[in-house]
Order: sequence, then structure tokens, then C-alpha cells
Amino acid sequence: MNVVILGSGKGSNARRLLEAERDGGLGRARVTAVFCDRTEAPILQLGKDFGVEARFLDPGPYRTKLTGEWEAAYIDSIEAKQPGLVVLAGFMRVVKKPFIRAFPGKIINIHPSLLPSFKGLNAIGQAFDYGVRITGCTVHYVTEDIDGGPIIDQEAVRIEEGDTLEALEARVHAAEHRLLPGVVARLSGE
Ligand code: GRF
Repeated sequence: MNVVILGSGKGSNARRLLEAERDGGLGRARVTAVFCDRTEAPILQLGKDFGVEARFLDPGPYRTKLTGEWEAAYIDSIEAKQPGLVVLAGFMRVVKKPFIRAFPGKIINIHPSLLPSFKGLNAIGQAFDYGVRITGCTVHYVTEDIDGGPIIDQEAVRIEEGDTLEALEARVHAAEHRLLPGVVARLSGE
């Protein structure tokens, strides 16, 4: 099963997927491309580190969405990889109906909270500020309902007395790095 990853930033989840593939822990899944909407993002380094195609795709003029000819170019580039799965791993743009319809039931996202709590940006900070005792991360299918598609799997993370936001972020990210490769392996039919 071909996997295309879309990301915008650090790329630690994409890196974990590539490490899992290298170590035999990604089932039948093979990462065939990493596409990024920012020219300078560290995620692009994965191309060199893992010998996978990793490149910038122009997202067009808007900061948080993908529309028109730019959306079409994303769809074409992804379709060319014949993906069985498209993984949004820190892709900081809303994907809309044409994009979602191009890959029906094949787009998943990782979000750093136990959805449906704390949708949107800064989810770890939202949970920390709210004072919940348990947060975590979620992998879900992507629909037009932002952070609202069917949940595939979750991992819980406890917020300890005297925790700092930085420490909590590190534990949530560690949970993401465990959760996502397992989900991709399962979806590949192992
Ligand atoms: C992760 O926390 C993910 O849940 C969220 O964006 C972050 C991406 O981190 N959607 P990275 O680029 O994978 O390191």
C-alpha cells in the first residue's frame, strides 16, 4: 500500500513512519512521497535522510487553505503516487471537498488531543489550560468536518500535578509517534 505524507513543519511523525518502515514495523505500507507546503520546513530533510521523494508543492496564495489550481496540483501530484493512504502529519491547511473526494476514505490525520475535545490549533495548550487530567492524541479519517471525522485510534496521556506545558507536549508527541505507525500498519492490512 503506497502512502503519501503531507506535512508543514518539523516532520517528527513522518520521520517515525519512515523509521517504522525501515525497521519492518509498517506492515505492507510503503511511503512513496512526502509533500510539504513550506519551502524551508525541516520535514523536507527526510528526503535526504531516507531516500524518499520529499518536496515542496506550491500551496498558492492563501495561508491556511488549499484551493483552485493549487489544490488541483496537489491532487495530481498525490494521485501520481497511487496512494492507498494519504497521511496528514502536521499539514497546517484545511483540505476541502475536491481534495477529500479525490481520495475517498483514504485520508487520515493525527491530532494532539483526545477528540472530540480540543479541536483546532494549539490542542495541547488548550488541554493544559483547561486543566483536564487526561489528554492524548487521535488518528481519524479526514472529512469536511475539521478534526471531526471518524476516529480510528487514540492514546491517552495523563497530565500530572505540577506538569509543565513543555513536558506535556513531549509526552503527547511521544504518544503520537507510537500511535500513528501502528494505525498505518493496521490499515495496510499487515
Ligand atoms: C503533531 O502534534 C500533530 O498531531 C499535529 O501537528 C504536529 C506535527 O508535528 N497535527 P510533526 O511535524 O509531525 O513533528
